[in-house]
Amino acid sequence: MDRDDMQVLQYRVAEAGQSHLLRFWEELDVAEQQELYTDLKGMDLEEVGQAFQRAMTGSGHLPGQENVDARMEPVPREILGSTTRDQAHLPAWEEEGLLQISQNKVAVLLLAGGQGSRLGVSYPKGMYDVGLPSHKTLFQIQAERILKLQQLAEKQHGRKCVIPWYIMTSGRTMEATKMFFLKHRHFGLKKENVIFFQQGMLPAMDFDGKVLLEGKGKISMAPDGNGGLYRALGVHRIVEDMEQRGIGSIHVYCVDNILVKVADPRFIGFCVQKGADCGAKVVEKTNPTEPVGVVCRVDGIYQVVEYSEISLATAQKRSPDGRLLFNAGNIANHYFTMEFLRDIVNVYEPQLKHHVAQKKIPYIDVATGKPVKPDKPNGIKMEKFVFDIFQFAKKFVVYEVLREDEFSPLKNADSQNGKDNPTTARHALMSLHHCWVLNAGGHFVDENGTCLPAIPRCTDGRSDVIQADISHNLKDANDLPIQCEISPLVSYGGEGLEEFVKDKEFHAPLIIDRNGVHQLVKNGM
Ligand code: UD1
Repeated sequence: MDRDDMQVLQYRVAEAGQSHLLRFWEELDVAEQQELYTDLKGMDLEEVGQAFQRAMTGSGHLPGQENVDARMEPVPREILGSTTRDQAHLPAWEEEGLLQISQNKVAVLLLAGGQGSRLGVSYPKGMYDVGLPSHKTLFQIQAERILKLQQLAEKQHGRKCVIPWYIMTSGRTMEATKMFFLKHRHFGLKKENVIFFQQGMLPAMDFDGKVLLEGKGKISMAPDGNGGLYRALGVHRIVEDMEQRGIGSIHVYCVDNILVKVADPRFIGFCVQKGADCGAKVVEKTNPTEPVGVVCRVDGIYQVVEYSEISLATAQKRSPDGRLLFNAGNIANHYFTMEFLRDIVNVYEPQLKHHVAQKKIPYIDVATGKPVKPDKPNGIKMEKFVFDIFQFAKKFVVYEVLREDEFSPLKNADSQNGKDNPTTARHALMSLHHCWVLNAGGHFVDENGTCLPAIPRCTDGRSDVIQADISHNLKDANDLPIQCEISPLVSYGGEGLEEFVKDKEFHAPLIIDRNGVHQLVKNGM
């Protein structure tokens, strides 16, 4: 960079009211100067300032939140599909979904740009091993579900098919994620069908809109939220890639849910048959303070009111039947048609406002040059949210599933609290797989040979065991479930297990993988 470049930069930062960012310029070495110069050159400070103004004035997070609360209405029954109430339709929805998959019309899109700060690991969350007997990571589990689903669709329709997997990372997670996939040979998927792309970053600011410095020559940056997806899809020409592949339906999901049904054929089939352009999967929210957003209408428009943006009083409201009034808990599984996604990327994305999160952000005090670690919020991070596009849907639908079948997110470290941590994720998966074994006619016996009880239930027509009871009996993370793990390469959702388990008795631990059943079997094997 020469003198002229520097003058232009000084002018730009001054115009944007951010001159303090160059306050320590003379103290930086040449490499640091170059880095700061590059960072600032690549940043549209004017746009950042405008986003700050819009976010601070319009955000439901700040004063005015009560208004959102007062305007919320629950999701009406007519747009709701349910794995429990609509059991008769499940086979048709599944059939439709598998057909779409077999025709190469379905893609999955993983949001994996988060920093995993609550979990407290320095690497991408998808690389986390929750301690299953197989020690599979979240990425591997998801990859194997995709592989299995391709096989199921191929078997059903007699033709080879591909479910492309788009993975959004951020500046913080891209390199490590790509290296991990390379190291593991993309877990058996074809490399060309796993497509990585990177979301944008935004600077952290103080409450006056001044960008914070993380170091004397380093701006404090954070990913622009999972709604940064839509801009990134345009910037990296991902929409074109999807169109070239002939994709019609996209399943978007978050990295942290160990039970996620990637490209769930029933969900896809439900949305397709309802003619929806946008859909959301939910579980019943039963605890008012659970950190899940709720799908609802505000002024007649569908949206998610995030857990950080709803008041406790509203979250606690109950219907006459005693259930929470706002109980459509968002599990961050969304359905979009290709047309809808294209319109969002090309037309609506700029209209999405940033949400504001007040945070404790370490910074360099420009007056003293000293680093400060605040003990109360001193600034904001701005994020777009993936679900903020529901408002643009022409036909929006909601699909309710059972928590114990499909939702156990990994948010916290084991040490933090008893919820949504590696132990609860591991237990949820093993409880579900225990349930699959029982449904397929297998039994577990204890060390004395006594049959462990199976409790009947009726959920999705396939199951006849109350998985809820199995999980609810595990009152906290210290209660141990039966150790049981079934590879996704063997079963995607509990299907096809009879040949391994019917009328057989097992001792835990039981592992079923591509190489067969691993454990001590009492009868029949
Ligand atoms: C999210 C949902 C919340 C839902 C909950 C269920 C959003 C905004 N909120 O909340 O409504 O009830 O999951 O578990 O979706 N991510 C990025 N880039 C970012 C930030 C996040 O890709 O800049 C990804 C993460 O990697 C993760 C997902 O988005 O896969 C969700 O992020 P997280 O911050 O964990 O969301 P929650 O607050 O748990």
